[in-house]
Amino acid sequence: MKVELYEATDQHANMPNYEAAKENFSWEEIEKEFSWYETGKVNMAYEAIDKHVDEGYGDKIALHYKLNDDIQSFTFKEMKENSNKAANILKDAGVKKGDRVFIFMARSPELYFALLGALKIGAVVGPLFEAFMEKAVKDRLENSEASTIITTTELLPRIPVDDLPDLKNIIVTGDDAEDQYTNFNKEMEKASKEFDIEWLDKEDGLILHYTSGSTGQPKGVLHAQYAMVQQYISGKYVLDLKEDDVYWCTADPGWVTGTSYGIFAPWLNRTTNVIVGGRFSAESWYSALEQLKVTVWYSAPTAFRMLMGSSDNVVEKYDLSSLRHILSVGEPLNPEVVKWGMEVFNLRIHDTWWMTETGAHMIVNFPSVDIKGGSMGKPLPGIKATIVDDQGNELPPNRMGNLALKAGWPAMMREIWKNKPKYDSYFIGDWYISGDSAYRDEDGYFWFQGRVDDVIMTAGERVGPFEIESKLVEHEAVQEAGVIGKPDPVRGEIVKAFIALRSGYEPTDDLKEEIRVFVKNGLAAHAAPKEIEFKDSLPKTRSGKIMRRVLKAWELDLPAGDLSSMDDD
Ligand code: WT7
Repeated sequence: MKVELYEATDQHANMPNYEAAKENFSWEEIEKEFSWYETGKVNMAYEAIDKHVDEGYGDKIALHYKLNDDIQSFTFKEMKENSNKAANILKDAGVKKGDRVFIFMARSPELYFALLGALKIGAVVGPLFEAFMEKAVKDRLENSEASTIITTTELLPRIPVDDLPDLKNIIVTGDDAEDQYTNFNKEMEKASKEFDIEWLDKEDGLILHYTSGSTGQPKGVLHAQYAMVQQYISGKYVLDLKEDDVYWCTADPGWVTGTSYGIFAPWLNRTTNVIVGGRFSAESWYSALEQLKVTVWYSAPTAFRMLMGSSDNVVEKYDLSSLRHILSVGEPLNPEVVKWGMEVFNLRIHDTWWMTETGAHMIVNFPSVDIKGGSMGKPLPGIKATIVDDQGNELPPNRMGNLALKAGWPAMMREIWKNKPKYDSYFIGDWYISGDSAYRDEDGYFWFQGRVDDVIMTAGERVGPFEIESKLVEHEAVQEAGVIGKPDPVRGEIVKAFIALRSGYEPTDDLKEEIRVFVKNGLAAHAAPKEIEFKDSLPKTRSGKIMRRVLKAWELDLPAGDLSSMDDD
């Protein structure tokens, strides 16, 4: 496939020169930005909010919350006071350092007050996505032995309170919250604006994100306070946050992107942060960008593809000239989407690769570095990434293998909750094995190929589903595509594609043949799907990854495993 090169245009980036930044990099230097450098103690909520008030930025807007046409704004001082109040409510409820406090709410200002309040008391926060149903909620609270949950009247019925013996406190927002539970709103009115922060060690717990594994059981990925070092510096170097920026990360805090980059990175960098409630539509998203004059925007390929799929002239109705920097995460960024970004915004879309387990960016396209369309870019300064074989031996450039990271980066997970064997299974010696396959080219760019378990072997040829999916979405009729290997007695596996069509296209056999030939001609004969099946939509995780595991289960008539992270919009 021909690679497009998008040259670096931003010479005013916070990190103007990659090689120089790498050369001079040390995590110890960055630690000096944080309070433990002087006091030996730290608290994420202090570094993200209160510190800015202490340093004279109390009146700067920390948060714009937009729901439909309504915008509520809060300064850093107001965030400090509201999170102090929330911390006092938790203190009155008997919550202590290290307790697991879950937040189960739709995006709203209260969610952020509650989350920061829980951090101030030294609790380990467990954010839950609002679409979780009873089983998903129960699994997580049970596994983590949570003492407290903060939720809304709407979501309360999904918490099986009688089956959770460790759950002592149920705190509910909403004016009509029943008397038997603590009423968050009423308590907020009464609570003191003053709170003495619980000072922590840098290895103390911060946040517990549950993520689905290939075996189907969600596992609790625990991060430590020290993650802030990497979240801060990636906010500076990768998100390129500056004093006047208005930043919007579209992810929900139920997922790691919505905390590491929806809360921590922007506020550690003292940035004005935008949160948009409600559901996706091209109109509502473009109007948020326009109305709030967003300058830095972090989203996902699936969202970009949905915007691409909306009718061409929607975007023309909006003035999006404030935008200066766009980023993407969660799944492969097809070259086609990057091309669209150049056409529509005249900006490069910067891919970022990382995982729940890594806690922060690992391999990215930087503002000051040339982008090779379809590549994830290069490792963050201070990060050593490579490709290893199944024994942990490093492979030379252009050889496909396991994408691996040298263990010990600041935001690395500290535990899989109560599951040491699972944690240990991630490592071969010093290498953290990501579970992704990739290769590194001779210029040091990394190219994602697929999850290791998704790689297709067909007639002795090794093909990455991503390459085929990227080709498929270049076809004018294809909105989204997921590709799997289907067992075949002769070829080992054949390539099978599930495709959702753009509106206006009919799912005919002729179209199947046309698409097959399109891939055969555009990519390679062995990569052309032998089988194509049209679907109205494809199963995706909330972070936008097409769940090939589910496609495979459909194909083989098997149970699909744990689907609690699946997007059911
Ligand atoms: C997996 C981690 C971390 C944010 C959201 C996802 C895939 C992530 C990319 C990218 C290709 C990507 C990988 C990874 N992934 N970013 N830029 N290009 N694939 O977090 O749910 O923990 O998933 O997402 O397969 O292993 P997650």
